[in-house]
Amino acid sequence: MRTPEEIKTRVEELLSRMTLEEKIGQMVQSAGTDTTAIGGDVKTSPLEGLIAEGKIGSIIYMPDSAAMARHLQRIAVEKSRLGIPLIFCQDVIHGFQTIFPIPLAWSCSFDPDLVQRATEVSAKEATRAGIMLAFAPMLDIARDPRWGRISEGAGEDPYLDSRMARAEVLGYQGGEGGQGLGDGEHMAACLKHFVGYGAAEAGRDYNTVEISPSTLHNVYLPAFQAGVDAGAASVMPSFNLVDGVSSAASPYVLQELLRKELGFEGVIVSDYAAVFEVIAHGLAADEREAAERCANAGLDIEMATDLFNRELPKLVMEGKVPESLIDDAVRRILTLKFRLGIMDDPYLYMHEGEEEKTYLAPEHLAVARRLAQESAVLLKNDGALPLRKGAKIALVGPCADSRDQLGPWQFSKRAERTVTLKEGLEEKGFAVLCEPATTIHEELVGGINRAVKLAQDCDVVVLAVGEDMTMSGEASCRQEICVPAIQMELARAVAAVGKPVVAVVTCGRPLLLDWFDKNANAVLCAWFAGTEAGHALSDLLSGEANPSGKLSVTFPRSMGQIPLYYNHMNTGRPWNGVSDEKFVSRYLDGPNTPLYPFGHGLSYSAFRLTEAALSSGEMARDGALTVSAKVKNVSDVPGTAVLQMYLRDVAARIARPVKELKGFARVDLAPGEEKTVELPITPDLLRFHDGREWVLEPGRFVVMLGFSSADDQLEKLEFSLA
Ligand code: GLC
Repeated sequence: MRTPEEIKTRVEELLSRMTLEEKIGQMVQSAGTDTTAIGGDVKTSPLEGLIAEGKIGSIIYMPDSAAMARHLQRIAVEKSRLGIPLIFCQDVIHGFQTIFPIPLAWSCSFDPDLVQRATEVSAKEATRAGIMLAFAPMLDIARDPRWGRISEGAGEDPYLDSRMARAEVLGYQGGEGGQGLGDGEHMAACLKHFVGYGAAEAGRDYNTVEISPSTLHNVYLPAFQAGVDAGAASVMPSFNLVDGVSSAASPYVLQELLRKELGFEGVIVSDYAAVFEVIAHGLAADEREAAERCANAGLDIEMATDLFNRELPKLVMEGKVPESLIDDAVRRILTLKFRLGIMDDPYLYMHEGEEEKTYLAPEHLAVARRLAQESAVLLKNDGALPLRKGAKIALVGPCADSRDQLGPWQFSKRAERTVTLKEGLEEKGFAVLCEPATTIHEELVGGINRAVKLAQDCDVVVLAVGEDMTMSGEASCRQEICVPAIQMELARAVAAVGKPVVAVVTCGRPLLLDWFDKNANAVLCAWFAGTEAGHALSDLLSGEANPSGKLSVTFPRSMGQIPLYYNHMNTGRPWNGVSDEKFVSRYLDGPNTPLYPFGHGLSYSAFRLTEAALSSGEMARDGALTVSAKVKNVSDVPGTAVLQMYLRDVAARIARPVKELKGFARVDLAPGEEKTVELPITPDLLRFHDGREWVLEPGRFVVMLGFSSADDQLEKLEFSLA
């Protein structure tokens, strides 16, 4: 690995030899085989010709094989004048060939260390195929489950999102500051989408975003700061407007926020065709103006379109885009290439012989299985779970024996290795009578009747329902986040038989589960659990694994409540949820409370919190406190409690949320075991942005401890900041 000084010297030397066109070529990223973008299909000449002409600096790499990567890299190295190698990128969001639970699911594990391990495995697999930059982690806070990309992030809380951001960057990049970059087994991370993408109005993808400066800083920026502090090598601006300008063309977003406030010094790569879309936004009259605005805003790489190659040379010659800006962008790109090690060994990531033996390696599958166990959330259980050994199970529903468990945003070519719920349960020795009865949207001929008959002959019904992979993810928003109608018809029919019903829900977002909460004996949110779905879910249903997942996102009761999130403001007329006051913040036709709140999740164990205490009632501005409590497993089942700490700033210069997650700990406990847990309270947890600056204000703070964000499950303490 070269030192920063060596890299700087070599970058300057190379830059001095580059023509303006060659510099700009480094700023263009081809979309691989996407024939609508530049370069066309990799099998045709345009892309290879552009590479040979030095007009491509990086590629989103779809046909992911080391051999193909080597083929294209050889063209760049041997045919272009300066032989500058390409960066190969891909959306390695939650696994490459071994697929982990979707990020919304793994955030429910509240286990950053395990998530870090999963991203490290992802990097190990992806770097076998020549891929050296992951367009991940996606850090968009999402408060609206209509938005399909809620599946791709860490839910609604900035603190949890920040912990996951750090874990994923360290996992992809091999430790702090990207210390693993260049070792051939780790890859550059890319924080996305900067910023506010998840606030799309009406939960409709790519829609307008309106966020106040204080909310932008207190809710949407923290995870990006955590990712930058962890050393993320790149950032991807979001498609949406921020204060009227799309991020890729916004000096405020790229210079003020990202470079100056967050201190980011790496590469900024646009989202797909976002430079070209500046025109559609109404921010440029033509491609020339779009290229000019994005280059002058400080965008380093244009993804998938080619306005930079076509327009920037003239814009620089005319003085409309300073060449110094181009030089700075290329310095950052070349620095990344040196850090990745490809300037010394362009084929460092091409491991033709290692691909098959690395993908889905047993130790990788073990991580996937454990993370899927920890990511599932037991929402309800009246004792129907765990399933009794030897129980005869009627396993019904479209997700019962489905391999559609990988989620909407993965490119595994080994989906056939996905373990279904049926396979998992059968491996455990259960007598399983399986009847899908419906597809996701339609009944199979006679399916519901067959399912009812099975239910009559069995001890328990496991109802496997939910979404397929097309119903969440990018450009996959829903106006009604319900379990599809035909599946509800199936659910009602089998429930009417009168046997215990355990619902297992496969989904990429919160769904409306009110009927299940009322009529099923148990409800397990499986999310899209990944390659090891069937193993992990049957581990949980059988009791071999004990659920510990906690919701990272709120489940509303009705569409009318959306957006609904736990860290909301109190308003001037808060409703206590019971009084019949009229002039308070409430509805005429329903409650304010969610069906399942942030932080909710049941276990087969029972945990008790006692002796909550603060190390002091006063905190100096440069001091720190510790909150401690005893957590006891008062059941005969070993399990893991997730202790959550929330804070509330009671009175401040701007209104602050009724509670905000500011710490958590996973606590493994044997039956009867009790542990004392301590969590730090430091000034950085109390700071907030008032729309103009970060402030730390004296005053009274409430500390809340518990195993859910629900008010009635929290122990409350108070302290004052001097
Ligand atoms: C997509 C997504 C972005 C992804 C990129 C490349 O449109 O918005 O998250 O990384 O294009 O696939």
